[in-house]
Amino acid sequence: MTTIPCTVFAIETSCDETAVSIIQQKEEHIRVLAHVVESQTESHAPFGGVVPEIAARDHLSKIHWIAEKALKEANLTPSEITKVAVTMGPGLIGALMVGVLYARGLALSLNKPLVAINHVDAHLAPALLLEKFSPNENLNQWLPIKSPVFPALALTVSGGHCHLSFLRSPTERILLGKSLDDACGEAFDKVGKLLGLPYPGGPGIEKLAQQAESDLLKNQFSFPTKIADKENRYGFSYSGLKTSVMEAIRKETGIKKGKITGQDLPLETKQSLAYCFEEAALQQLVNRVENALCDFPETQTILVAGGVAQNQKFRDLFQGLRKPVRFAPPSLCSDNATMIALHSLLLTDQIDGFEKQPFSKYS
Ligand code: KG4
Ligand code: ZN
Repeated sequence: MTTIPCTVFAIETSCDETAVSIIQQKEEHIRVLAHVVESQTESHAPFGGVVPEIAARDHLSKIHWIAEKALKEANLTPSEITKVAVTMGPGLIGALMVGVLYARGLALSLNKPLVAINHVDAHLAPALLLEKFSPNENLNQWLPIKSPVFPALALTVSGGHCHLSFLRSPTERILLGKSLDDACGEAFDKVGKLLGLPYPGGPGIEKLAQQAESDLLKNQFSFPTKIADKENRYGFSYSGLKTSVMEAIRKETGIKKGKITGQDLPLETKQSLAYCFEEAALQQLVNRVENALCDFPETQTILVAGGVAQNQKFRDLFQGLRKPVRFAPPSLCSDNATMIALHSLLLTDQIDGFEKQPFSKYS
């Protein structure tokens, strides 16, 4: 008897990406039939950050044709969908509503279940289920579900969140710590703005930092790495680091008041600031994970996901930790709907060993 695959149609509209994905799961294999991510970066770039009203309107104008594009890419008709999954939160409310209402309408019209997904939890799903995925190479290919060895530590580092958790299984999670103020990616974006880089700042800072070659440039600035204290071994704090960078720029340029645009900084100073900021930002992540490795010596694997996990230095630093590290595939680190579809599989008992147990609420 052949098993009928479960076909998930997933939507992600929590921030500035309108994304639709269609995946199929059959026994211990998954294939991604469509992976469409339409970024709004250009619409928000002039404002140096995401403008909620623009984001919602942009999703509204694109969601239907992106859904149709995904169905075409997957060569499916809506009637072949067995489940609809959608990001329910956290995120920008107007942006979320576009995806949620579209998904609800679709599920109702098809008389299929609708699964509500927590965006931050979903960032981890690719690292929990797949060892590799690239839309250029693996679209349509059946990929084996490869679970990491448990217990595991899981770090999700994105533009809006930093979460460190201890996982006894894919669905049994203890949240150890999270952002106390700015998230790590948010700090990359804010410092990027101070250096005159386009939004989002992460990729630009990484590039500038790589250009700082001499030891002089690498050591020109000393920013706080925020080593955790006894009471706060796992919390993440980045607002102080961002302020330190701002003060350093004011000192360098002599601009005491007003907006900083990075215009008055020589390229070498920018490279040095980017390098020293990146170093301090990433060391904080390493420090929190090292604390958790001390407190949970039974840890077998470290899982890493979220937009910041695309940073190569981040990856190199984490490879130096004393437990095996499993990163989400780079193409599934930034916001996308494939992670939403994959997480919906964890919330059902379709995969052996996974329980019906959502992680978190939506905000
Ligand atoms: O996970 P994500 O796509 O969206 C959120 O859920 O927030 O993460 C976006 C964040 C942005 O803050 C962006 O600057 C950061 O990921 N980012 C990076 C890099 N690429 C993206 N940060 C550091 N280095 C990068 N290469
Ligand atoms: Zn995200």
